[in-house]
Amino acid sequence: MTDQPGWAPPGVDIKRANPARVYDYWLGGSHNFLADQDLGRAMAAIEPNVRAITQANRAYLGRAVRFLAAAGIRQFLDIGSGIPTEANVHQVAQQASPGSRVAYADIDPVAIAHSKAILAGNENAAIFEADLREPEKILANEGIRRLVDFSEPTGLLLVAVLHFIADADDPWRIVATLRGALAPGSYLVISHGTDENNPSLARAAEKLYNRGASTQAHARSRAQIQRLFEGFDLVDPGLVYVPLWRPGSPADVPSDPSMLANLAGVAKKT
Ligand SMILES: C[S@@+](CC[C@H](N)C(=O)[O-])C[C@H]1O[C@@H](n2cnc3c(N)ncnc32)[C@H](O)[C@@H]1O
Repeated sequence: MTDQPGWAPPGVDIKRANPARVYDYWLGGSHNFLADQDLGRAMAAIEPNVRAITQANRAYLGRAVRFLAAAGIRQFLDIGSGIPTEANVHQVAQQASPGSRVAYADIDPVAIAHSKAILAGNENAAIFEADLREPEKILANEGIRRLVDFSEPTGLLLVAVLHFIADADDPWRIVATLRGALAPGSYLVISHGTDENNPSLARAAEKLYNRGASTQAHARSRAQIQRLFEGFDLVDPGLVYVPLWRPGSPADVPSDPSMLANLAGVAKKT
């Protein structure tokens, strides 16, 4: 697909792959272009687990939202929410507790346009254009504040997005700024690509991805990812490979979970 299709918002650069659309491609979605598919396939050639990684990440997101709903969280801020795909956060949250509110935020015009289309008429969920590198603007966004009352406990979701923030943009400061706005009893949900298990594969994948994509990815060490949780208390089982975070069944855990290359953790602000 090289022509601009009707559903794509004007001005979208379809010639260069980007994180939202490559991820959509790996998940089997249809909101991606040839450049995204080419990069997705090239990545799969050097990291054959790449589809399993995205599916495991998505399943973790669902489990974490159900965990937060069971803990009484009724409002969510999902930054880097991506191109909508079942089951979306508002579907999971509202199934667990009708009336739960979800503010989605993303930087990608395709993610924003498609989210707007599926959320039209939904009073309790909306998408906002936002850059995670500007957390103060996110916290001041009037639309987000209409859905999320920061004086009440909030579920802050930063799932598979912080590895798109460079060290120079200080992801630790960004998370700390967001933490400062959260009421006690709020939760932070993170998954993050790591180079812990196979550094040479991680570097090769990063190099290939960063040559083709509009946004650079940065796999990090366990210690660097752990530091994102400063000021929060990790709930059991702590920071673990994604499939090990409260799996629905032992059969969902592969024999070597570290092959899924993302660490996940849910933590509470006390
Ligand atoms: C891999 S997808 C993850 C989607 C979803 N959170 C999930 O885990 O299924 C990463 C998303 O982060 C978004 N993103 C990347 N950099 C961002 C930034 N600086 N601000 C906001 N969103 C960003 C991308 O557009 C993309 O939709």
